[in-house]
Amino acid sequence: MHKLKDKQLLKNFSYINGSWHSSETNFEVINPANGDVIAKVSNAGIAETELAVNSAKSALKLWSTKSANERATLMRNWFNLMMQHQDDLARILTLEQGKPLAEAKGEIAYGAAFIEWFSEEGKRVYGDVIPAPSGDKRIIVIKQPVGVVASITPWNFPNAMIARKAAAALAAGCTFVVRPASQTPLSALAMAELAERAGIPAGVFNVVTGDDARGMGKVLTQHPDIAKFTFTGSTAVGKSLIAQCASTVKKVSMELGGNAPFIVFDDADIDAAVQGAIVSKYRNAGQTCVCTNRIFVQQGVLVQFTDRFTAAVAELNIGDGLADGINIGPMISKNAVADVNKLVTDSVAAGAKVILGGSTHHQGENFYQPTIMTNVSNDMPIAVNEIFGPVSPIISFTDEDDVLAMANDCEYGLASYFYSRDIGRIWRIAEGLEYGMVGINEGIISNAAAPFGGIKQSGNGREGSKYGLDDYLEIKYLCMGGLDK
Ligand code: SIN
Repeated sequence: MHKLKDKQLLKNFSYINGSWHSSETNFEVINPANGDVIAKVSNAGIAETELAVNSAKSALKLWSTKSANERATLMRNWFNLMMQHQDDLARILTLEQGKPLAEAKGEIAYGAAFIEWFSEEGKRVYGDVIPAPSGDKRIIVIKQPVGVVASITPWNFPNAMIARKAAAALAAGCTFVVRPASQTPLSALAMAELAERAGIPAGVFNVVTGDDARGMGKVLTQHPDIAKFTFTGSTAVGKSLIAQCASTVKKVSMELGGNAPFIVFDDADIDAAVQGAIVSKYRNAGQTCVCTNRIFVQQGVLVQFTDRFTAAVAELNIGDGLADGINIGPMISKNAVADVNKLVTDSVAAGAKVILGGSTHHQGENFYQPTIMTNVSNDMPIAVNEIFGPVSPIISFTDEDDVLAMANDCEYGLASYFYSRDIGRIWRIAEGLEYGMVGINEGIISNAAAPFGGIKQSGNGREGSKYGLDDYLEIKYLCMGGLDK
């Protein structure tokens, strides 16, 4: 089925306490490229979610008391298995999510890299000894796993967003429960199958699949045995999940929406900026929180940049992600297409001009043409909202102050990008942008060693890097007294 080399990777039950768990009903997983039903997956609900939390709680002692080396060995096995099965995992991912196969393979390597990176970093959870105020005392700081971690992950990166959270949690000694998006449960279940083969003990990594987002979300945000909740998704949903976590004062980390500015200065390498804009905008059909949302171009290079960018975007191939040579796959649903189209038409009504694309694509109802708009101002719907689709609005600007004011005039603060070769300007703009991440002459900034995360209403906490581990650790202060003779 689906031309997998290892058919055992296609699972359709929840994975709880090291066992595959069926439910009374199923839900369908649909290929967004053609509407085919790929699989019917167990529709777990509140009871199964509670079971998964209980199993994570039971496994906590065993996992948290293993040495960092023991955990690292098992996590390294998991990483190796993910890379050995990269082709199959990518195929499953493209089938359920739609992104082109090459991009899906990239996501598997990206996700696996977090497991590899954190398996090593877990060995470096150092404590501290602090000089005490009196000679008969010692102040010692140790770090301990927070406990059971629950997460809700999105459909746009069905593998990497789970790996990025689970890897840090497991390396810190926590156990983990994930509810993957109901559009893309198969990648999560394939990860569970490989976690089991890697020797990760029962209850340490649990996946509950189901379409009762509200009911399952309540368990994962309110269950008293969960110490930490982590979410990647929209700011609107994130806000209500944070509120739900308040009742048990959970530690939270949130990776929410973005509205990334991409700034091209007069002194930029224009060809590099065009390439950077293409990868940061059209990756995953524009359905990425760090995707470029507004392109600001300085007046002196406006025509040059717009012409070259438009010519390059016009060359992109749109189609089923499994076909050869495809650059842009379908969007996740026809509702997503309709939302993007509304932003375009509302902005045209406000005076913007479409110079490329601007409507659905003949490939089918889930496809949208790569689109470029000019005559855009920073207050139009296409600039104010997170587009989450393959549309590039171009806004012109005069100078640094002008562009910084526009770029920062936004409730989000996740990723930002700019192109310049002037070292003074590079520092001024990098420090002036109110964003958690800044790509400088670079359109792809995500990797396991770097702290991914936002400020303002884009969330809190960091994923990846040494800072990412802190989010899964508690600091404990030991005061030793009575040391005088
Ligand atoms: C996201 O859309 O939040 C993830 C993007 C990335 O990891 O690069």
